[in-house]
Amino acid sequence: MRILVLHGPNLNLLGRREPGIYGRKTLAGINRELEEAAEELGVELRIVQSNHEGELVDEIQKAREDCAGILINPAAYTHSSVALRDALAAVALPAVEVHLSNIYAREEFRRKSLTAPVVLGQISGFGADGYLWGLRALVKKIREARAENG
Ligand code: DQA
Repeated sequence: MRILVLHGPNLNLLGRREPGIYGRKTLAGINRELEEAAEELGVELRIVQSNHEGELVDEIQKAREDCAGILINPAAYTHSSVALRDALAAVALPAVEVHLSNIYAREEFRRKSLTAPVVLGQISGFGADGYLWGLRALVKKIREARAENG
């Protein structure tokens, strides 16, 4: 089973970017932890970071061909991108949304997620751990659905 892990804009700067909000872990560090968790879970990851909305849409569309689910931190596009929301809805793959910070405890404009209504669930405010829990939750949901459907 393959899972697409999508990191949105500016997440390539993690570690240096507003560490008081996003922590000191780099994206490479988070990805390493995700790979370790994936090995334990017996799944394969395709990990992509992009600062470009259209590239993220392309990746979501591609996932339909060869991925069982999507773990996504849409970053700033969470709050603005109808295109990302529509892509997630269109491929209809099980997806989990992750945010390092608690978006509901921040500025007003961050308290709305356009993508949350089209994913299984959201984990927000637990730093890099949220990605690991998100991956576990996603894989569990996919396996349960497969078991139910025979
Ligand atoms: C973020 C929260 C967003 O509001 C912000 O634009 C980000 C990161 C998070 O992980 O906490 O870039 O998605």
